[in-house]
Amino acid sequence: LLLAGCAVKPKTAVTKSPVIGFSQSGTESSWRKFHTKSIRTELKRDNYEVMYRNGYQNQERQIQDVRTFIAYQVDLIILAPLTEHGWEPVLKEAKKAKIPVVVVDRHLEVNDQSLYLTHISSSFKAEGQRAGLYVTNHFAKSKQRQIKILELNGTADASAAKLRQEGFADTIGRDPRAHITATINGDFTRAKGEEVMADYIKNHDLSQIDVLFSHSDEMTLGALKAIKQTKIRPGKDLIIVTVDAQENMIRKLQVGEVNCVVECNPDAGWYVVNALNRYFAGQQVPHEIYMPETTFSESNADKVPTRNY
Ligand code: AHR
Repeated sequence: LLLAGCAVKPKTAVTKSPVIGFSQSGTESSWRKFHTKSIRTELKRDNYEVMYRNGYQNQERQIQDVRTFIAYQVDLIILAPLTEHGWEPVLKEAKKAKIPVVVVDRHLEVNDQSLYLTHISSSFKAEGQRAGLYVTNHFAKSKQRQIKILELNGTADASAAKLRQEGFADTIGRDPRAHITATINGDFTRAKGEEVMADYIKNHDLSQIDVLFSHSDEMTLGALKAIKQTKIRPGKDLIIVTVDAQENMIRKLQVGEVNCVVECNPDAGWYVVNALNRYFAGQQVPHEIYMPETTFSESNADKVPTRNY
């Protein structure tokens, strides 16, 4: 769970409630809304003062939000980056202003690891591997000679999409019959998921596809709308594997419209506040923190714990 450690010193001895700037990447899914709520609730519980900004799926806007926090001289910044690249300059500005940055959810790529204090996230690669494992297990006894997969990707340059793709490809690679026949991009939203799936159906024969692997539940919900315009029965003629485990997708699993739901844990609040408390107490904070997650399929669909998102 805790990978590497680094000793840290808070900027000053904080006597009043520290002010935290929280830059969220957007509100594209129930998952994201709960991620925000979890962090804000826990910050409030521990009496942190919060300046919150929504980046509305726009990196430039998020960078501006971080600059605003720097201008306000907040005590610490929480950043949920939309994409992986392009953060180095603004993180250098934060470092120069002696404001530590806690990265949450997606990864960001920087040469200088000291530009952020810690990264608290899901293990996206493991999620992709779990999705791939479901597919290889599902077809293990089948005599069919090919397994054709359609992949519905999330936002370009978002580590959640890149690593899920990587983990999935690694695992299905163990079955030489499995091929990703096409990849379409739904940008992690329901509307785009429906649009690109409808477009795919218009130009290809979906009945030739065995599996849909979707990087998020919101995109899956959109794709299902488009699939239901055809004669293909989702969950039966087309195996569907999706990531997040939102309440609405668990219900689809329970009625057999999707086959496997890989959980992505949005409940980051406790982990974030724990890291902040440690930092402000002058204690060590690990540089990488991963949260626990699981998988749901036909075998445990009736035992899914209560979802809050
Ligand atoms: O970065 C995490 C992903 O972002 C979630 O899986 C998805 O639903 C959200 O949009």
